[in-house]
Amino acid sequence: MLEHDVIIVGGGLAGCRAALEIARINQNVSIGLVAKTHPIRSHSVAAQGGMAASLKNVDDTDSWEAHAFDTVKGSDYLADQDAVAILTQEAPDVVIDLEHLGVLFSRLPDGRIAQRAFGGHSHNRTCYAADKTGHAILHELVSNLRRYGVQIYQEWYVMQLILEDGQARGMVMFNLVNSRVEVLRAKAVMFATGGYGRVYNTTSNDYASTGDGLAMTALAGLPLQDMEFVQFHPTGLYPVGVLISEAVRGEGAYLINADGDRFMANYAPSRMELAPRDITSRAIAYEIRAGRGANIDGSHGGPFVYLDLRHLGKEKIMSRVPFCWEEAHRLVGVDAVTQPMPVRPTIHYCMGGIPVNTDGRVRYDEDSFVEGFFAAGETACVSVHGANRLGSNSLLECIVYGRRTGRAIADYVENRPLPNVNEQYYIDLAEAKIKQLIQQPGKYRINQVRQKFQDTMTEYCGVFRSEELMNQGLEKISELKQQYAEIYLDDKGNKWNTELVEALELRSLMVVGETILTSALQRQESRGAHFREDFPQRDDSKFLQHTMARYSPTGINIEYRPVTITMFVPQERKY
Ligand code: FUM
Repeated sequence: MLEHDVIIVGGGLAGCRAALEIARINQNVSIGLVAKTHPIRSHSVAAQGGMAASLKNVDDTDSWEAHAFDTVKGSDYLADQDAVAILTQEAPDVVIDLEHLGVLFSRLPDGRIAQRAFGGHSHNRTCYAADKTGHAILHELVSNLRRYGVQIYQEWYVMQLILEDGQARGMVMFNLVNSRVEVLRAKAVMFATGGYGRVYNTTSNDYASTGDGLAMTALAGLPLQDMEFVQFHPTGLYPVGVLISEAVRGEGAYLINADGDRFMANYAPSRMELAPRDITSRAIAYEIRAGRGANIDGSHGGPFVYLDLRHLGKEKIMSRVPFCWEEAHRLVGVDAVTQPMPVRPTIHYCMGGIPVNTDGRVRYDEDSFVEGFFAAGETACVSVHGANRLGSNSLLECIVYGRRTGRAIADYVENRPLPNVNEQYYIDLAEAKIKQLIQQPGKYRINQVRQKFQDTMTEYCGVFRSEELMNQGLEKISELKQQYAEIYLDDKGNKWNTELVEALELRSLMVVGETILTSALQRQESRGAHFREDFPQRDDSKFLQHTMARYSPTGINIEYRPVTITMFVPQERKY
């Protein structure tokens, strides 16, 4: 059996930052980092616009308190304010630490780190590396992990969290290259497995964002928090859905409808294109619904609006957001220097996740924690984003809470024995599962079931929701679960069997999707990204609470836990 003091699942920013912290604290701790892809292909690498911190390089009136207020207001008051205070207080320090590691942030003429405007932030505080910020940070972190001797298991798919007697003891994984199953035990297990964008049919997320860590946690009988809060990024490139960074609007681009109007004046007059994402995405969806979207031939009534950069000029476009220019040029043939880009909302981020405290310890319920189990980053819900995340707060969360979780783990594993694990039992279970998937005769191809599932989630639990729609969605999911039980694989081999991975990922997607729908159905109010046409108002008297959804094969049980309010009393949210 493989063994480490610590296993971290996920090679993105949160996982790598935690690993680095543990290694910095104690080089004798043995760390295994397991990733489904090569770590530098983790989805963090695609983060574009930047990372918020009140460095005051551009605006010396900024402060951590202002950053905290913007974050809490942006969250529609669902964020836990103690966690937000930590996030915003530690932000400047973690940015400087990244700079010392070698991260190449963009600069002001005097050499200090540049900072740009971002949606929902009242000051220019987003630090960036052009529009490839995730790329710049992740590459530096991964090189440093190699320097510290962290063992990286790349291209291994983790199938199961081993949880016995309330203690995480390890996990079961299989090698994507040759399908070999291994059990890995450890004193501490950390999930940093990212989001679930592929639950929907149009997303800015990569193909690997299938919510595996969330699903494994749910299948182990642990709760998931606030899963109904699904972020649509306003500017997905139409029709592919890839991200056109908010940095483009931060640099001054306009959103215009088919009539050529800057329609944000009707939805968020004080912030215009830099309103928070929930408000901007809904505004675009309303414009399209009202027939003011455009078609490819320029006529009215189409499925997208325009992002207009032309007034920024070629030099600014090419120096500040070159990658966004390139995406539009390469993928849809638009030269943003002379033509507006077609955009519409695309699924981008999961505000909910595995409930954790501010040291990354996973909650069993309101009062107790799971021994040896930690989480950070998008897969965790600490919760600093509440019902709606502000752009450039997620890289920050990965680094602040990755570091804090790393510190907590380094402390936790000291002088602790490795837990007992019955290796053969778990290997037999995993091999039987793989054999069953490969051998079952089945009636349905994986991609048919997956497409129907993604279309169902998009149609029945999208920007606009209602009880009627979501009940229909749940009925369809229950039919699709039957179909999943009858999928078949064409590839029966054990070399790079991508169909097998897709079959396991589809199970994750379905567990996560059902949890999102059920949590959304129970929340009879509108808050942040969760908009109910049948309950259009926020209802603090009943729902100023976190949803805790506990999955079981017979249904999902919903409970609630309190929100921590320490600084800002909830008020009406206006921009
Ligand atoms: O628009 C963006 O560049 C995305 C940033 C974020 O999600 O934080």
